[in-house]
Amino acid sequence: MVVRKRDCEGCRMRGRTTAAATICALAAFLVTTGDAQTSKSLPHLERRSHATQLIVDGAPWLILGAELRGTASSTLSNMDPIWPELNSLHLNTVLLALGWDWIEPTEGHFDFTLVDGLIAAAREHHLRIVFLWFGTWKNGISSFAPSWVKSDQHRFPRSRLSSGRSVEIISPFSINARDADTRAYSTLMRHLRDTDVDHTVLMMQMENEVGLNGDTRDRDAAAEAAFTAPVPHELLDSLARHKASLSPALAQRWAERGSKSAGSWSDVFGDDVVGDEIFMAWNYARYLDHVSAAGKAIYPLPVFTNTALDEPWDKRVKRASSGGPQYYLLDVWKAGAPSIDFNGPDIYSANFAEMIAAFDRPDNVVFPPESLGDPHGVANAFYAVGAHRSLGYSPFGIDDTSWLINFRPDKGAPGTDAIDNTALAKGYAVLGNLAPAILTHQADGSIAAAWLNKSLPHQEILLGDYVIDVELRRSTRDQSFLSELGYALVMTDGPNGYLVAGSDVQITFRPRSGEDTAGLADAEVGRFVDDKWVSLRKANGDDVLLNYDLAGQAQTRQSGSGLRFLPGAPVIQRVRLYRYH
Ligand code: DGJ
Repeated sequence: MVVRKRDCEGCRMRGRTTAAATICALAAFLVTTGDAQTSKSLPHLERRSHATQLIVDGAPWLILGAELRGTASSTLSNMDPIWPELNSLHLNTVLLALGWDWIEPTEGHFDFTLVDGLIAAAREHHLRIVFLWFGTWKNGISSFAPSWVKSDQHRFPRSRLSSGRSVEIISPFSINARDADTRAYSTLMRHLRDTDVDHTVLMMQMENEVGLNGDTRDRDAAAEAAFTAPVPHELLDSLARHKASLSPALAQRWAERGSKSAGSWSDVFGDDVVGDEIFMAWNYARYLDHVSAAGKAIYPLPVFTNTALDEPWDKRVKRASSGGPQYYLLDVWKAGAPSIDFNGPDIYSANFAEMIAAFDRPDNVVFPPESLGDPHGVANAFYAVGAHRSLGYSPFGIDDTSWLINFRPDKGAPGTDAIDNTALAKGYAVLGNLAPAILTHQADGSIAAAWLNKSLPHQEILLGDYVIDVELRRSTRDQSFLSELGYALVMTDGPNGYLVAGSDVQITFRPRSGEDTAGLADAEVGRFVDDKWVSLRKANGDDVLLNYDLAGQAQTRQSGSGLRFLPGAPVIQRVRLYRYH
């Protein structure tokens, strides 16, 4: 039996424990030898030059995904009308909740009818699945735990607040809860290993938006005991090893308290909101790692978390929850949960570009499991895969069409458009057409993207031999901006060539060196058919004339011509440049 060594992402990442190395070795073994069920390789993360990519059936996979609302997948009948809609949106992957209660309603008695039915229906609709394990926590609350767990507060203690009251949150310090969750999740992973022979399930999300709501730290007896105990050396050693790259907020707090290498939690990080959140982050991470590591030992699919975003302590306006995998706490999460491959942000805010960048670190793969599905969401999708080599994109709640028009139903008119006429359907059709090119250019490092709005109407991209100016679309008459939201994905296509997809922007090119001006030798609007470029029409004349003031343009080494992308559905253009002086 030959064991090839793979570049397993978990092993490549920093500071992994012996347990994690064992899991990775096991994963490599299963991936490479072919387990009992199949000879195909398992879905896994793999570093390919400039990008870490999700490999499915041996080839990179761009997740054109979407997450359904939390209970959509609780019955097969509820899903029946949704599957065809997912096809109309041009999805290739759907993120589906799996509540602990739905598979283990009675302790020790598992029913996988729902799981099997979801997998069979996904296959029938040519879709892959990412399951969201709503185990002990969903949105930080223990609402999807089975009633035999929820109702036994003695066996499964709740988090207690400083008021002395408890809330519907099982304490992350409960060993009983951790072990019961681990048993359920392990049974699920064993079932997937034994039955999902076609690898319909690609990845697992561990719990959902964990973090304590209602207080900065748990005041349950076990939590209080842990708070007065020494900070585990695994955490402090890891922080010391990565001192130069720690998140600024965490580094500042550790330094303020003397960068101690030993001591109690309050000695090392302080007895306040900051110290409390670091303490909770470590303990949530350890709990999730325990569940995840046990599952990986059985069936090593990639595992990730999602985060309800909050700001670091000095910028925070209101507190949401304490201890989740926030970007400023990732160093704690990486040390505490080595079996979790990456931490993904749920980004609903306007500062998508800033938040996705905060999660793009050498030790963290980018993938937003929840975001917008409206036209802003389409811009997010192009930006994430182009600017941050994201594994893909996934807007939330798309089984309610109003979320495709304007994120929250209460914010806009209910969706009236046919599904295949929505911005997301049109955006995913283009991303799907470009997926092979995107994946190749992600690995090559020859891809970039711009996400523009009124406060950021221009972005300069350095890619290949040219400086690429992406701007919101302007009036040719007076050069005022005409659009409010625009985006572009740019890939190099040979020495003087670019492949560009976008909407509501205009794009000009300048040579990166020398005094020459760049002209358009040839531009086309088109698409790929069987991986070959097919021109739908030429782009020239009014299509490309952006500024008639040729004298003024010549002063800035511009030709006055460039690529123009109209509002609405994105299109793909291919351009060849030449130079003149
Ligand atoms: C974020 C959660 O992760 C989702 O499950 C869902 O509750 C959305 N919020 C609703 O806005």
